[in-house]
Amino acid sequence: MTPPPIQQELDQLKETINRHNHQYYVLDDPQVPDSEYDRLLHRLQQLEAESPELITADSPSQRVGATPLSAFKQVAHEVPMLSLDNAFDEQQLRDFDRRVRDRLGDETVVNVRYACEPKLDGIAASLLYQDGILVRGATRGDGSTGEDITQNVRTIPSIPLKLLGSGYPSTLEVRGEIYMPHDGFEKLNARARERDEKVFVNPRNAAAGSLRQLDSKVTAQRSLEMCCYSAGWIDGGELPGQHDEILKQFQQWGFRINAEMQVVDGIGACIDYYHQLAAKRDSLPYDIDGIVFKVNSLELQRDLGFVTRAPRWAIAHKFPAQEEITQVLDVEFQVGRTGAITPVARLEPVFVGGVTVSNATLHNMDEIQRLDLMSGDYVTIRRAGDVIPKVVAVLKERRTDEVRAIKMPDGCPVCHSPIERAEGEVVARCTGGLVCEAQRKEAIKHFASRKALDIDGLGDKLVEQLVDEGLIQSVSDLFHLQAEALAALERMGEKSALNLLVAIEASKQTSFPRFLYSLGIREVGEATALSLANNFGTLDALLVSDEESLQEVPDVGPIVAHHIVEFMHNESNLQIIAQLRESGLSWPDIEVKEKASLPLQGQTWVLTGTLELMPRNEAKQQLQTLGAKVAGSVSKKTDCVVAGPGAGSKLTKAQDLGVEVIDEVAFVQRLERYAEA
Ligand code: IVH
Repeated sequence: MTPPPIQQELDQLKETINRHNHQYYVLDDPQVPDSEYDRLLHRLQQLEAESPELITADSPSQRVGATPLSAFKQVAHEVPMLSLDNAFDEQQLRDFDRRVRDRLGDETVVNVRYACEPKLDGIAASLLYQDGILVRGATRGDGSTGEDITQNVRTIPSIPLKLLGSGYPSTLEVRGEIYMPHDGFEKLNARARERDEKVFVNPRNAAAGSLRQLDSKVTAQRSLEMCCYSAGWIDGGELPGQHDEILKQFQQWGFRINAEMQVVDGIGACIDYYHQLAAKRDSLPYDIDGIVFKVNSLELQRDLGFVTRAPRWAIAHKFPAQEEITQVLDVEFQVGRTGAITPVARLEPVFVGGVTVSNATLHNMDEIQRLDLMSGDYVTIRRAGDVIPKVVAVLKERRTDEVRAIKMPDGCPVCHSPIERAEGEVVARCTGGLVCEAQRKEAIKHFASRKALDIDGLGDKLVEQLVDEGLIQSVSDLFHLQAEALAALERMGEKSALNLLVAIEASKQTSFPRFLYSLGIREVGEATALSLANNFGTLDALLVSDEESLQEVPDVGPIVAHHIVEFMHNESNLQIIAQLRESGLSWPDIEVKEKASLPLQGQTWVLTGTLELMPRNEAKQQLQTLGAKVAGSVSKKTDCVVAGPGAGSKLTKAQDLGVEVIDEVAFVQRLERYAEA
C-alpha cells in the first residue's frame, strides 16, 4: 500500500530538514540559505497544522518547545553515570598512568593509548534512542537517578531527533555535555541587562538554568549545544572496540563530537596535549575546565573497571579554577583620565585563573546595586584569560552584621572637587578637570602611551613619580624636563634620564591622528582620531569646526561631536595645545580627499529596539561608512528607522511622522545591496 501523498511529503520534508539541520548545527557547514530552510520548515508546520495526527516525535517542528510541565519526572539510569577523578598536576597524572599500567600487568606495552578530550564545562546529559528515534533525555542527577528533560533536549539543534544512516543498536544511549557557547551566553546576558533582569554568572549556570526550564519554549530560545563523549546503555547491536571509533561512529549517526579530540601514545603525550590545549583555552568559543584522558581500548577499560563512582581508566586534569570565593575587604574609588569615578573592590587575596588577585573593578554604582554588594561580603570572583577580574556574584547566605553599605563619596577622593552624575549616564565624574591630580596623571600616561605619542621609557610608574615630585603638571611640561632633575629621581640615574630625554625629543615628530588621539578627548579613540584627521586635514580646521560639521565625519555621532567641541573651547586645553606646538611638536598636514558620493550621503538614520543580527556598533559603523549620519532620536529630518524587537517611542514617533521604518532583516538586505553596488 502506498502512503497517502501528504504522508510522503511530510516524510520527505522531515528528512530534508533534519539533514540541513545537521549540516548547519553539527557540521557547521550549511548547504542551503536560511530562507530555504525557513521555507521547508514553514511548509512542514503547515502540513502538520492541517493533519495534527501525523505529528511525530522526530519532527523538526517539535524543536520549538512543548506544553510546560508542572514538574520533572525522575529517570533511573540503566547504567550509572559515573564521575571522574581529578588530577591537579603532572605528578598526579603520572601516578594515574602508573596505576593503570600496574593493574593491566605485563601484557600492556609501555605506552597506553589514551583518548584526550577537553572537559567541557556544562551539564552532563543522557540521550536514549529506540530504533533510531530520540525517546528520552535526562540529566545525570546523582549518577543513578536524574531528571527527565526530554522536551528540553528536543529543542537543542545539535541533538538529532532521529539518527542518520544505519547500523545503530536498537537501544542506544549516548552521553555528553550540554553547554552554552560564549556568544550565546553574552547575548543572553545582554538581553537580560537591557530588561533589567538577573544575569547569569557564567555559561555553565546559564546552561543549567536553561535546561531546568519546565517550559521548553524558554529552552528553545537559549543557545545550547551538546557534544557527545561516551555510550551508556546499548542493546540490540554493537559499538566499535575503541573509544575514538565509537565517537566517530556517533558522528556518523548525526551527533556533534568535540573537534579537539585526539588519541595519543603514553602519558608524556597526554601532558603535551594538556599544554597545547591550555594555551588554546581562551580562544575556544566555549568554556572548558580541564582535559579528560581515557584509556582508548574498551577491552582495557573493562579490565580496569571502576571504584565507587569513578572509572579507573579515566582521569580529569583540571585547569586552575577561573572562579573563586573571597571577601571584599573594602571598596575604594579611583579617578580615571576623564574624571570617571570607578569603584574598586579591595579583596582578601585569592588565587584565581592562575594569578593572585587582590582588586576587582566594580564598574559603577549601578553594578554595585545590581550585585547587591556590601563591603565585607563574600563574593565569587571570575578571572578568565587576560580579562580583568570581576565580581560576578554575592554569597548572600554568608553575609554577617559586619557588612557596610557602599556609598559614592560626595567629593573626588583625590582633589575633593564635587562629583557629578549627568542625567541618563551610569558613570559619575570628578568635576575637577585638570585641577585634579588623578586626572592629570592619567592624561599624561595616555599622552605618552604606545598608540599616542609613544614615548619610550615613560611608563605609568614614572609619570606618577614625575607628578608627585612636582617635575611636571601637564603634558606640555614634559618637553621642558631637565636631565639633572630627572637623574636625581629615585631609580633613575644619568643614563636613563638621557634616554628618556632623547625619547621625548623624538616624539615631537608625530602624525596628526596620533596627536589628536593623545589629547585624550572623551570618546575619541584611535579610529575616531584617524577619521577626524582625514576629514579635517589640519588642526586649525578642526579647531573651528562645530557639532554639525563634526557629525558629517564617519564614526562621529552627536555625543562625540559634543565632547570634541567642548574640549576645543576649553581655555586651558587651548593653552596646552599652543604650548605643545611652541615646544616643537609637529606633524605633516593631511590632504583632505574629495568626499566620494556615498550611497547614503546626507541621510540620517535611527536604530531602535534590539538588533539580533549584528551588534549595534557595527550597524552604526556600516551606516556611517555608507555616508549616513546615525542619530539618537527621530525627527522630521530622519530618513529611515531600523526597528528591532522591543522598539518603543521612537518607532511610534517615526510612524506618526511618516518616516520610513524597516526591520533588521530588510536592513541587512539593504546593506548587502549597497555593498554590491
Ligand atoms: S567522561 C566515566 N568526558 O565531567 C566517564 N566527562 O566529573 C564519565 N565532562 O559529569 C565522564 N567533558 O559532565 C567525560 N569529555 C568528557 C567530559 C566530561 C565534561 C564532565 C561530565 C562529568 C564530569 C566528570
